[in-house]
Amino acid sequence: MADYKEKITEVISGVLPDMEKNEIAEMIEIPGDSKMGDYAFPCFKLAKVMRKAPPLIAKEIAEKISEEPVFAKVEPVNAYVNMFISRDGFIRDLLSEVIRKGDGYGRSDIGEGKKVIVEYSSPNIAKPFHIGHIRSTVIGNAIYKIYDFLGYDMVRINHLGDYGTQFGKMICAYRHWGKREDVENAPIKTLLGYYTKFHQEAEKDPSLDQEARDAFTKLEQGAEEETKLWQWFRDESLKEFTRVYKMLGIEFDSYAGESFYSDKMPRFVKELEDKGLLKESEGAQIVDLEEYGMSPALITKSDGSTLYITRDIAAAVYRKETYDFYKNLYIVASQQNLHFQQWIKILELMGYEWAHDCVHIPFGLVSLEDGTMSTREGRVVFLEDVLNRAVEKTREIILEKNVNTENVDETAKDVGIGAVIFQELSNNRIKDYVFSWDKVLNFDGETGPYVQYTHARAASVIRKAGKEAVEKAKDIDNIKTGYISNDAVYELLKLVYSMPDVVQDAAEKYEPSVVTRHIIDMAQAFNRFYHNEHVLVDDEDEKTAKLAVVMAAKIGIKTGLGLLGIKAPERM
Ligand code: ARG
Repeated sequence: MADYKEKITEVISGVLPDMEKNEIAEMIEIPGDSKMGDYAFPCFKLAKVMRKAPPLIAKEIAEKISEEPVFAKVEPVNAYVNMFISRDGFIRDLLSEVIRKGDGYGRSDIGEGKKVIVEYSSPNIAKPFHIGHIRSTVIGNAIYKIYDFLGYDMVRINHLGDYGTQFGKMICAYRHWGKREDVENAPIKTLLGYYTKFHQEAEKDPSLDQEARDAFTKLEQGAEEETKLWQWFRDESLKEFTRVYKMLGIEFDSYAGESFYSDKMPRFVKELEDKGLLKESEGAQIVDLEEYGMSPALITKSDGSTLYITRDIAAAVYRKETYDFYKNLYIVASQQNLHFQQWIKILELMGYEWAHDCVHIPFGLVSLEDGTMSTREGRVVFLEDVLNRAVEKTREIILEKNVNTENVDETAKDVGIGAVIFQELSNNRIKDYVFSWDKVLNFDGETGPYVQYTHARAASVIRKAGKEAVEKAKDIDNIKTGYISNDAVYELLKLVYSMPDVVQDAAEKYEPSVVTRHIIDMAQAFNRFYHNEHVLVDDEDEKTAKLAVVMAAKIGIKTGLGLLGIKAPERM
């Protein structure tokens, strides 16, 4: 459809031939108050060159462009040229585009041929998949969907924390106190218990530590029995993670986690050495980063075993060689800022010119109302429990209202889980937040259920209108815009119109909350329109025009929710 900003740039450029078009485009504003117009052009900057007072310039420009058919009205106000778009043209243009494209409205191909890796979730094996992990999981999934929508070629990676000395401890603990069926029944809780028990026992009997180190060395060397146990721990943990991913509707293209790189490390240790970046420090190998104001990065321990950062170096190079990425995105908590700063510096020092195509996308901490989470002290909220409780609570609400009893299970799932995801994506990702049951399960205000309910309401109007009316509304020739050019409708349609820009903005900032915000705005605008007006009126022309607005709003809201990984039920 017409790009109105571009059109206006053309028009203004016609009367300001000495100015660059992109400079004009940059100056065009969207007034905060729509009473001041749909677009505004400030003239302050022109005063110097034109040697006139800005209000005078604004007046002259306004006079020259006011006859253009794209405008309904052009008004100089102080130093601004305020422009009102011709609503008839805009509405026809938008409705035909949205209804024609349907779910594809807003989709673009600007990313075509560019590979983007999104690494997200990445929990640690045999450790709780808790509420802290929801952030990476849900933000990452939304970023994946947003980039996919823009046509990028996507690869989703779950960099599982499935390697490290703790597995030596786990193996050792299992041999002493483990029971097969306990692990099978509740893998993570059981394995975590072993881990805790190991620490308690090792305090009394330090020889356990040596035993654990030996077990890990054997695992690193690929010894059969240790590898089998580790593989089994991994499989059982993954079963639990997968259950949660299924509930959230999340998938990955690759689960190449830390262990995947275990045999690829020597090449990088050697490369670091060859490039003169390694230094010995108390038997360990480090990269000294003092010059860059950072603490040293530990590459190999004194016993030769590699570390987290070494595996991340290997992973980055592997990904470049395997996927030749345009961008390689890491959705990881801000607690790991230093780790990623060190890592990117090392890639840079190694001479990889693509180092800065790797981007760490941090997010703030989640804490509980009674303090921070602590795995050791058992103060964790399991993600699966949160999701289950949200679904359960939603089911109760639905049954209380006694509506739509056919699909209770499915609706409760879509809405309950949607509520959790929506709250997660409501704030700027970098903000810390306190997890609160009350907030997640509050179905009023600016929440997921509110938006989903708005969508279902639109769906219900469309159902009631019937197939024939819908077909009629799809044909723009049947739309008489006079019925739908009041302010409430116009505000709503402008929000639908700006969806594609909002998605791009969210992509550039790696900020799904930009989309969340916009969905709330659309839902609120829809509800204002819906409360003001009767859609299914007797007058055929009026009904058709209003129905088209409902259809467009529904598409906008559904598309937005989809980008966040939230379902949009047709009935609630
Ligand atoms: N497994 C890590 C954790 O739970 C997160 C991994 C982040 N990704 C990375 N490439 N380092 O803290």
